[in-house]
Amino acid sequence: MNNQNIFNEIRKKIDIVDLISEYVPLTQKGRNYFGVCPFHNDTNPSMSVSREKQIYKCFSCGASGNIFTFVRDYEHIDMKEALNILAKKIGMEIKNNIETKNTTKYDKIYEIYDLAYKFYQNNINTKEGIKAKEYLKARSIGEDIIKEFGIGLSLDSMDSLTKVLIKKGYDALTLDRIGLSSNNHDLFINRIMVPIQDATGRTVAFSGRVYNKKSDHKYVNTKETEIFKKGTILYNYHRAKEVARKEKYLIIMEGYMDVFRASSVNIKNVVALMGTALTVEQSDLIKRTSNNIYLCLDGDEPGQKAMMSVGEQLEKLGLQIKVICLTDDEDPDSYILKYGEDKFRDLIDRAISFSDFKLSYLKKGINFNSDLELSKYVDTVIKEASNINDEIRREIIIKKLANETNLSYNTLEKRLIEYLGKNQSKHNDIVIVNNKKGTKLSQYDKAVYGMFYAMVIDRKYFNAFKREALYFTTAPYRYLLTEIEYYYKKYSTIEIADFYTYLLDKEDVLALYNKIISYVDSNTINDEAVNDFMKVIKENNVRQEINRLKDLMRKTYDELEKSKIAEEIKLLRIGE
Ligand code: UTP
Ligand code: MN
Repeated sequence: MNNQNIFNEIRKKIDIVDLISEYVPLTQKGRNYFGVCPFHNDTNPSMSVSREKQIYKCFSCGASGNIFTFVRDYEHIDMKEALNILAKKIGMEIKNNIETKNTTKYDKIYEIYDLAYKFYQNNINTKEGIKAKEYLKARSIGEDIIKEFGIGLSLDSMDSLTKVLIKKGYDALTLDRIGLSSNNHDLFINRIMVPIQDATGRTVAFSGRVYNKKSDHKYVNTKETEIFKKGTILYNYHRAKEVARKEKYLIIMEGYMDVFRASSVNIKNVVALMGTALTVEQSDLIKRTSNNIYLCLDGDEPGQKAMMSVGEQLEKLGLQIKVICLTDDEDPDSYILKYGEDKFRDLIDRAISFSDFKLSYLKKGINFNSDLELSKYVDTVIKEASNINDEIRREIIIKKLANETNLSYNTLEKRLIEYLGKNQSKHNDIVIVNNKKGTKLSQYDKAVYGMFYAMVIDRKYFNAFKREALYFTTAPYRYLLTEIEYYYKKYSTIEIADFYTYLLDKEDVLALYNKIISYVDSNTINDEAVNDFMKVIKENNVRQEINRLKDLMRKTYDELEKSKIAEEIKLLRIGE
């Protein structure tokens, strides 16, 4: 059985609507299912999934594909891994010799990072790791956590890692470039090493913590490299994502220690921001785990401030945000250590809505004697209240605000009604289908797209195209036609969904196919429409042929030859 057959077999056994429903809530409308597209920032249901065709397509960003591309792109993994995940679902064993284009130009860097990871991990289990383990033990980090997170140790030596890697044949310049050495010296010396993995679980960076001496830098971190862009990583994401999907929520914390501690009490749907502001890429990753996000940043002022900005950013993506409130200056690590697992789980249960958090945050530090500050505060609170979809709660907030500020309830309510009106018109403005970004097709291209779609769904249209001796002159069109022809020869029929798999390593052709599938509405394909497409394509073929002959005529000096060409052109024009 070759690869294509394995893919096709799995594809037939997993229904795409069922599969995508596990990641994105879908609602049925007519024959198709609709949901929020996970491949671009959106809150509208612009992705449609077809049970009949076993494909999905997004009307807004133009993404389309089958079960394999969905899992690959959703999980940020490669095709081989997507194949394995889906095979496992149906209890199918995949031998490891499946060839999918799996090599990247970064393979060597990943390989080096993996070696460094193993090297550090080994160190902590030797005599030289005793002190580090004592330190961790004193902070109640035991063997199981060390293992689970692959915590290691860089030795108290100038070049132990560099030496090992050079000996293995890697060159010093590469080691410098990828942030492990500098001029034949190690960058991490005598630190507890926290490996940082990307969304697929590959180690891409390290963070080294001091443990037995004074240092100005608590952590030394890998610089940004080809494989490590800080803003694209969330600590522990690759482990937490599955758990979060099962538990139906994800918790966001600040640091490694918080994640270790939570995990030690069996709370594993946790990622850490690593002390930075949230980027668009990170929010995108978060959105892929669950609609319910719990923020549990440190209890101090910077932590609260970060909670405001992170929460607002995630709220814009349409996620439900709750806040776990730690007392005073605790962080999740210290809180769990001090009060234990049960108390922390209570805190999770009592998490407050983000709008409640915002209201209480806004109130802090307001100088009620300053007219300007006060009016700004009142305005923000009312605006916030207008976003709450619950009349009673809105009234409570406004009443409280009236008492607090000594302003009349009526004045405040008037402002609330204004905001509610604005929100209403904002909602009405939302256009659900932001039709096919940037695709303004000429009449000819429209015909070609329709023709290709028809040829893929029904061989008789492919045969008709050939019978009419039609052809394409531009490269991607020619290539796609060749692939269709080849596939029919080999498999005799085409399933739209399987053809995606077949085109996977033919990037340009796949991009075209993707465009065609997301552009063409299958309901518009019938004999009559196909005849029209062929007419347009034929006219174009003739016009191009005439131009070619005219060009030829201009370059010909032989009069006899010239008149022959003129005759040919005349014939073509009659046909036109
Ligand atoms: P924390 O100071 O809370 O660190 O910073 P921590 O991991 O909880 O460590 P302990 O409890 O002091 O041992 C939160 C996160 O900010 C990043 C790290 O990712 C850390 O986990 N950070 C902090 C740095 O990168 N460098 C620093 O010097 C400090
Ligand atoms: Mn901490």
